[in-house]
Amino acid sequence: MSSELSYVHPTANSPWGTYLSQVDRVMPYLGPLARWSETLKRPKRALIVDVPIEMDNGTIAHFEGFRVQHNMSRGPGKGGVRFHPDVTLEEVMALSAWMTVKCAAVNLPYGGAKGGIRVDPKKLTLTELEKITRRYTSEIGVIIGPQQDIPAPDVNTNAQIMAWMMDTYSMNTGTTATGVVTGKPIHLGGSLGRVKATGRGVFVTGREAAHRLGLELEGARVAVQGFGNVGAIAAELFAEAGAKVVAVQDFSGTVYSDRGLDVAQLVAHAKGAGVAGFAGGERIADEDFWGIEVDILIPAALEGQITAERAHRITARLVLEGANGPTVSQADDILAERGILVVPDVICNAGGVTVSYFEWVQDFSSFFWTEDEINQRLDRIMVGALEHIWDTADRHKITLRTATFAVACERILTARQERGLYP
Ligand SMILES: NC(=O)c1ccc[n+]([C@@H]2O[C@H](COP(=O)([O-])OP(=O)(O)OC[C@H]3O[C@@H](n4cnc5c(N)ncnc54)[C@H](O)[C@@H]3O)[C@@H](O)[C@H]2O)c1
Repeated sequence: MSSELSYVHPTANSPWGTYLSQVDRVMPYLGPLARWSETLKRPKRALIVDVPIEMDNGTIAHFEGFRVQHNMSRGPGKGGVRFHPDVTLEEVMALSAWMTVKCAAVNLPYGGAKGGIRVDPKKLTLTELEKITRRYTSEIGVIIGPQQDIPAPDVNTNAQIMAWMMDTYSMNTGTTATGVVTGKPIHLGGSLGRVKATGRGVFVTGREAAHRLGLELEGARVAVQGFGNVGAIAAELFAEAGAKVVAVQDFSGTVYSDRGLDVAQLVAHAKGAGVAGFAGGERIADEDFWGIEVDILIPAALEGQITAERAHRITARLVLEGANGPTVSQADDILAERGILVVPDVICNAGGVTVSYFEWVQDFSSFFWTEDEINQRLDRIMVGALEHIWDTADRHKITLRTATFAVACERILTARQERGLYP
């Protein structure tokens, strides 16, 4: 048992606490493998680094950087890098742990990792952003690498930042190591389809889940929180399938249209400034977003957004977790009791890491696939994984989240058991 002062002991309402309670729920389904359960509750390795940079005005600023490798029983670490003012070690621990579960749920040969810098990148100039990225990459360079741990984009990081990370690592090691990060620009070893992969995966799992519920996508009402890489792409794909995206919320506010928002126009409007002020919809109070009448709700922003109080107001039949950890455990129970189906993050947003895996494989073989090949393979993997999880949920009469954890944790702990404890 961990003491109050241990870094593995969660603070109140933290994503790490949410993750630990999700692990506890899966224990009854792990049989003798439960003996290894403590493995899942402790990150293998957590690195905290100081990231000093000279700002454009000549001052020296210091930022906190993190890279956590939660579990590498099944392969090298894999997971994004987040630039956000609220990043903490505990948040990165939770995100790295969800990566372990996610990679195992879709059966990729990876462990789970995650990184981040506690910074508001909107307050940095482009030069400062490059400096902070390069210094952070150098500092975590001791534990990352194409065979060790492969970062990727997450909140507020993108292909340009991955290019700087790849270049910094390559300069430090004297090689051009394209496989050290994924989500790179196409001409630097990036993969076609990667930018849209997470949103596409949310759509694919949503399409399959809607089919099982007998919910027609044509005309279905959809609300999306977070209009970045994941939320905007998912919204686009649902709109293409005939759904009506009636509400979108991001950091700038919430826009609503009963007839459906024009997603392509909203994407163009939101670049840089956010969705607020969009002429094709009316602005509503942010809190009202959760009670809007919809069929499908897609949280695609940050953790902890679906609280117990909001869970009571949600009208959707289907919640698709594009974000990592958007639903707190208590809210999860409320949604289940109310008969609202949640496709959990650990399968719903696994499309990103799946195409990251394709990118890494293509980098190693220096042979690149077409976008059609990538999308077809992504579809196949997501549909197959969801089917297996759904069967597990039906067999044990458990939620899709606990079923995903059951499938994933069995794979992770079997690998742990087969490898044995070193030394
Ligand atoms: N990018 C990926 O490939 C990927 C893969 C798997 C999971 N995710 C998860 O998806 C989520 C979104 O990631 P992303 O890559 O789209 O990030 P992003 O930076 O591209 O977009 C984040 C969006 O969330 C909005 N947002 C931020 N704070 C908000 C708030 N308080 N209320 C409402 N909206 C808010 C921002 O305005 C923005 O529209 C994160 O939880 C991330 O971990 C991302």
